[in-house]
Amino acid sequence: MGSFVGKTAIVTGGARGIGERVAEDIVAQGGNVIVGNVNSDLGENLVSRLGPTNARFVDLNVTRRADSERAVELAQSTFGGLDFLVNAAVAMDAKPLIELSETGWRKTMDVGLTGTFLTAQVFAAHLIQQGRPGSIVNISSIGGQHPYGGAGSYSTVKAGVTLLTEQMAIEWAQHGIRVNAVAPGTIETPLTTYLDDPEIRESRRQAVPLGRIGQPADISHGVLYLLSGSASWVTATTLTVDGGVTRSLFNHMTGRKWS
Ligand SMILES: NC(=O)c1ccc[n+]([C@@H]2O[C@H](COP(=O)([O-])OP(=O)(O)OC[C@H]3O[C@@H](n4cnc5c(N)ncnc54)[C@H](O)[C@@H]3O)[C@@H](O)[C@H]2O)c1
Repeated sequence: MGSFVGKTAIVTGGARGIGERVAEDIVAQGGNVIVGNVNSDLGENLVSRLGPTNARFVDLNVTRRADSERAVELAQSTFGGLDFLVNAAVAMDAKPLIELSETGWRKTMDVGLTGTFLTAQVFAAHLIQQGRPGSIVNISSIGGQHPYGGAGSYSTVKAGVTLLTEQMAIEWAQHGIRVNAVAPGTIETPLTTYLDDPEIRESRRQAVPLGRIGQPADISHGVLYLLSGSASWVTATTLTVDGGVTRSLFNHMTGRKWS
């Protein structure tokens, strides 16, 4: 994997779960990180753990353009430039569509889809103005490849994130900005506390051909690959990291015996 030494990333939703691990791994590889989150306690905690030389927190709500602009300015003034953006923020209103309020629909759309657009637009405009190449990774979901019943607008948002990723990639390739997505399967984070239920945990585990629930590191490794120079000819793609779940339909059906 290419080196992160001297490189700077903004990670939205960076205070916990997948974003937290991405921030940790970038710093472990010698890079700098701006952790952007609406939860300042969590964000400040993470940054103090990572140390002031390589990490800063910014109070950032992805639905507010001005917050992303402040994050870009902070990266520039603190670390002398900006190279990467990882969009990991999420807000859920998990309800069947028939019960979902307009507010609930909009909340997931605003954070997941509009937020991804706004932060990426601010990031790309800065890089284009500086004549500097860069790389963006948006966190989608296997829920954007298959309808996730009961999850409100989540699947629609994540499918949108995949296509938005592709459109940004083809529009910004001419500026040396690569844009990719990672689509995680079930990952153990504070978002998936339903895994605390042993029955749900075991049934989710059994559904994974590779036989275990995913960890934030599984996703972070994919994100860092896509950000890095090792992926210099990879753009407009979605890397599914799910232990094989989405391709295992026939594992879940009885049928003809072949031997
Ligand atoms: N955990 C999984 O199983 C899983 C599976 C597929 C996809 N994903 C995706 O991975 C990403 C990270 O998920 P996670 O499991 O780490 O979730 P998480 O809930 O642990 O972390 C999400 C973070 O986003 C922050 N956030 C919420 N609204 C925000 C806003 N408006 N602006 C900035 N930050 C905001 C939260 O404070 C939180 O720190 C999400 O996009 C999620 O949809 C997760």
